[in-house]
Amino acid sequence: MLRTVAATAYLTPLREGGSLPGLVEADDDGMYVVKFRGAGQGTASLVAEVIVGELSRRLGVRVPELVRITIDGRTARLEPDEEVQELLNSSAGENLGMDYLPGSFGYDGIHWQPPAPEAATIRWIDAFAANIDRTWRNPNLLIWHRDLWAIDHGAALVFQHAWPPLERWATRRYDLSEHILAPVADTLGRAQLDALDAALAARITPELLDEVLNLVPGDWLLTMNAAIGDDRDAAAWRARYREYLLARLTDRAPWRPELAPVSS
Ligand SMILES: Nc1ncnc2c1ncn2[C@@H]1O[C@H](COP(=O)(O)OP(=O)(O)OP(=O)(O)O)[C@@H](O)[C@H]1O
Ligand SMILES: [Mg+2]
Repeated sequence: MLRTVAATAYLTPLREGGSLPGLVEADDDGMYVVKFRGAGQGTASLVAEVIVGELSRRLGVRVPELVRITIDGRTARLEPDEEVQELLNSSAGENLGMDYLPGSFGYDGIHWQPPAPEAATIRWIDAFAANIDRTWRNPNLLIWHRDLWAIDHGAALVFQHAWPPLERWATRRYDLSEHILAPVADTLGRAQLDALDAALAARITPELLDEVLNLVPGDWLLTMNAAIGDDRDAAAWRARYREYLLARLTDRAPWRPELAPVSS
């Protein structure tokens, strides 16, 4: 289970973010960057954050701790800004919190670079999960205590918005030519990239995916799918995600970032 905390105060919006993330204090005295269920994409981006964030963590990538953070009417009543109040009101219940890394700064690919295997691992997972949100314009990587931390996986798993035929998603290539870690990852030779690909794919077992999928609150899965009129239960949705993710492992040549020319 992800730990659950309760929001005590909304501190400030993080204006950079497209999904209206905010910095929130919780009853464990922690500060969290919160993705609100009442914002833009609804719970779909919260689901992607948990699945891709927790999978990345298990594959050795540093991801700040993810928690479920409850928001109630009281937090909204204390908020003077009307727009924020509305966001908080429409986000009553469980939201996604990410441990705030104080003093971290955004990775720019210039002043400091991570070890190549680390860069290649993150890029591989982004290709696997169709996360196109890791470009020079929008790196979504933080440097904290001289280490690289991955954040913001809300736009990954695009298939969950439309559930295309399994075969189409399984081999679909995404344009990662602007990936901010490409120059570092590509300093590895082909043999090392092949070995990394084989090792990462082997670690993504059905059991590992179940472990990760069970961390997603069922309510988020049901909320996002109620709109499309599909009344599968949470267990059935988790099984569907597992099927889609496993399908992508069978033939990786079409989407591996270091292979084949970029189309779209
Ligand atoms: N755990 C964290 N610790 C410190 N700062 C963070 C953390 N998470 C996010 N931020 C800061 O907040 C910004 C917005 O967060 P994030 O990228 O997750 O939101 P978003 O709305 O999905 O953003 P965008 O749509 O711009 O990619 C980040 O670029 C980063 O500067
Ligand atoms: Mg972002």
